[in-house]
Amino acid sequence: MAFEKLWRLSNEKKSRLILAVDEDRALENIEDLLKEVGSLVVGVKLGFPAAFNLGFSRIKDVISDRRDEFYFLADFKLADIPYIVNLTLLKLKDIGFDGATVHIFQRGLEEALVGNVPEAIGIAAMSHNSPLLDREFIDSLNYAKKVGIRGLVVGALKEDLIAEGKRRGFTIFSPGIGVQGGKFAQAIKAGADFEIVGRAITKAEDPREVVENVVKAQREALKI
Ligand code: XMP
Repeated sequence: MAFEKLWRLSNEKKSRLILAVDEDRALENIEDLLKEVGSLVVGVKLGFPAAFNLGFSRIKDVISDRRDEFYFLADFKLADIPYIVNLTLLKLKDIGFDGATVHIFQRGLEEALVGNVPEAIGIAAMSHNSPLLDREFIDSLNYAKKVGIRGLVVGALKEDLIAEGKRRGFTIFSPGIGVQGGKFAQAIKAGADFEIVGRAITKAEDPREVVENVVKAQREALKI
């Protein structure tokens, strides 16, 4: 089953929330933050801001301390030649990441997604205006299916694209909630499986309170 760990945690916590930790202040206190929101957050997304701030060795420690509690998603939106994408994915797996985002438009993923690599999540559409990705959307989905990608990132504001991705059987991950304009649970209502939220939580006075509000809205939308 695709994203088995993520779904197990999601069912246990009755939550579809993945927390993106990009802000310096949140990263500097990441252990406390994860402790505070752990019972309601199912995944933690880390990308370049985390790598610059914490370094990969501390990221490895954070993951190893909490690997049973969260699904760790590496968000580097990889788009290099297949050999380098594969090498990078192998390293991300070594660090402990469960999943990793990859671009689709550059192709070559049949060679990149081999060996013991994290579960790949393809960048299908972004929440800001990204005409190239939007134009390529259907071709990208056809290709993603062919190379065995089971999850897609589709921005929360692109509700018709969320629905199309879902109709084709992908697990949909939607950022763009909060600061970028999406309402809590908006993407879930459009058919997304998980919502990725960053600044609305990490920059809040009381991150736990925002997390509670996001999950409450998700539970109401899903009737769980
Ligand atoms: P916020 O705005 O909540 O962003 O701080 C949270 C995280 O989500 C990522 N992000 C996106 N990634 N397509 C993507 O692939 C998108 O449309 C998109 N919008 C936000 C961003 O990297 C940040 O970590």
